[in-house]
Amino acid sequence: MGILITFEGIDGSGKSTIAAEIARRIAEEEGPPFAGRHFLFTAEPTEGEEGRLIREKLKRATRTTGDQGQRAKEAEQLEELFLFMADHARHMAGTVIPALERGMVVISDRYSDSRVAYQGATLRGIIPRPLEWVRELHRPWSVVPERTVLFSIDPSLAVERCLSRQEGSSSERRKAPEKFEREEFLGEVARNFELMARSEPERFVVIDASRGKAEILEETLAALAKILSGTKK
Ligand code: ADP
Ligand code: TYD
Repeated sequence: MGILITFEGIDGSGKSTIAAEIARRIAEEEGPPFAGRHFLFTAEPTEGEEGRLIREKLKRATRTTGDQGQRAKEAEQLEELFLFMADHARHMAGTVIPALERGMVVISDRYSDSRVAYQGATLRGIIPRPLEWVRELHRPWSVVPERTVLFSIDPSLAVERCLSRQEGSSSERRKAPEKFEREEFLGEVARNFELMARSEPERFVVIDASRGKAEILEETLAALAKILSGTKK
């Protein structure tokens, strides 16, 4: 069996940037513990049918908030959760499990903990104890990661990074009321991630993602080297 490692964090924490850099660095490594292992870099939402549907839906959701009734909002959050779950099922069966069976090191940019943290926030007030419920939904059939690297960052800095990533962002856009709402929401998601990391310290490795890319990259590579040194090839 291979090994499953996941990267988690709020939007703008820099996970995808670091995952891409890691892929490049690992390909150049000639010694242990990286050389000789086969890596698969993957992500949720996926590039598959469900993943595409989710992205379209998320784009629409940001435009249609506000004037919906409470029932419609609740339905939308539940629909979102189950779309992410469907995407996860396909991802597991089509990508993650086959790669693990071939003995690969699978690194996933987001995985089940994103559901616990994000849908744990969106389903608050709709489902009692939403974090526990979402975690329980995965338990009978999903694979728990061996280790999870949590990129921890202040939500306001993360939102700034996301805004500067968007094309045509202006200073007006940065002051928009949505920015405050987004920060508040990501603050709740970040607290959910922290709670999870505290409750499973043996699985989570927490990295301070507010620093420069080079420092974060080196710390993440060191964490991966440590994880892989402790596992059989
Ligand atoms: P995520 O995948 O966690 O949402 P990204 O990797 O897409 O985050 O990064 C979001 C934005 O922040 C991108 O424009 C990226 O270039 C930038 N970025 C990533 N890491 C850093 C960093 N350590 N310092 C400053 N900017 C960063
Ligand atoms: P992603 O494409 O990873 O966004 P980013 O690169 O900005 O971090 O994910 C899209 C959005 O979907 C992001 O806001 C996180 C959210 N998400 C969930 O709410 N639940 C989930 O289970 C997953 C995988 C993502």
